[in-house]
Amino acid sequence: MKRVVLLKGGWSAEREVSLVSATACARALRDAGYEVVEFDVTRDLRDLLDILDPRPYAVFNALHGRFGEDGRMQGLLDILGVPYSHSGALASALAMNKEIAKRLFADADIPCPVGAVVRRDALLAGDVMERPYVVKPVEEGSSLGVHIVLEGQNAPPLDLADWAFGDEVMVERYIPGREITVAVMGDRPLGVTELRTNEGFYDYAAKYTEGRTNHLVPAPIHPDAYERAMDIAVRAHRTLGCRGVTRADLRYDDRAGEPGEMFLLEINTQPGMTPLSLVPEQAAYAGISFPELVSWMVENASCEG
Ligand SMILES: Nc1ncnc2c1ncn2[C@@H]1O[C@H](COP(=O)(O)OP(=O)(O)O)[C@@H](O)[C@H]1O
Ligand SMILES: [Mg+2]
Repeated sequence: MKRVVLLKGGWSAEREVSLVSATACARALRDAGYEVVEFDVTRDLRDLLDILDPRPYAVFNALHGRFGEDGRMQGLLDILGVPYSHSGALASALAMNKEIAKRLFADADIPCPVGAVVRRDALLAGDVMERPYVVKPVEEGSSLGVHIVLEGQNAPPLDLADWAFGDEVMVERYIPGREITVAVMGDRPLGVTELRTNEGFYDYAAKYTEGRTNHLVPAPIHPDAYERAMDIAVRAHRTLGCRGVTRADLRYDDRAGEPGEMFLLEINTQPGMTPLSLVPEQAAYAGISFPELVSWMVENASCEG
């Protein structure tokens, strides 16, 4: 039996999400016939080295966020020569940094919301761009730290005083309209999902609370916009040199009528794989079961060097 080490947990802000992803993936991998060893990652590398000896068939990396999704774990696995799922070290690092990723997307003519990275002090002192705008950490996920600053709110309206994401903050033009996501598997877009939240924006609670968000697959948007979203997702995946499965998050501004304008927010190199998650759902829509999806991810695993 092929032995797969499934990395989960870790110590990033998205630890809990990773644990839920891991439970679902472990079950699906076992259903697909793999031997699965689950390992909750800590900073004690001796335990990690032990679990990777003898070398497994592959590592399934179900970590989310910093250290697990940003190239650091990938670099370590490259050094150890253990094949792992998802993108390599460089693509993972590029995708995690929204500022750098956006520069590369701009070079590739992929439309993103206009924005800048500013010092937190500047933001606390007042508006740094015309409202409405969005404030977010340069390197986070799961909507953690994302604030939408609307017209008519008091400035500065944010709980930036206890902002835990560093001194550099990303600000972006707020794109009104609809929330869109596209999973890419290798070089194939799986479909387009529209996310409709029943209150507020697509924040952490909306992402992980059952019933808070409706997933519409296929997204009920103009066919040209649908194609456009898939094209942007595939080009963004290629631009950063991603591998395996990724998920592109987009906004679709259709206020002036359809087809409207599509903007890429980011690429997730280790998208959520919880039972509520978008990638397994889009895979199912494309005729790929959850066990087939995770098997493909294991068989697609590789490493450098
Ligand atoms: N420029 C923007 N315009 C409108 N909504 C945005 C914008 N940026 C982020 N958001 C909202 O915040 C959510 C999270 O932002 P995103 O850039 O995808 O970061 P994360 O890595 O936290 O998922 C998005 O899904 C969207 O609902
Ligand atoms: Mg996102």
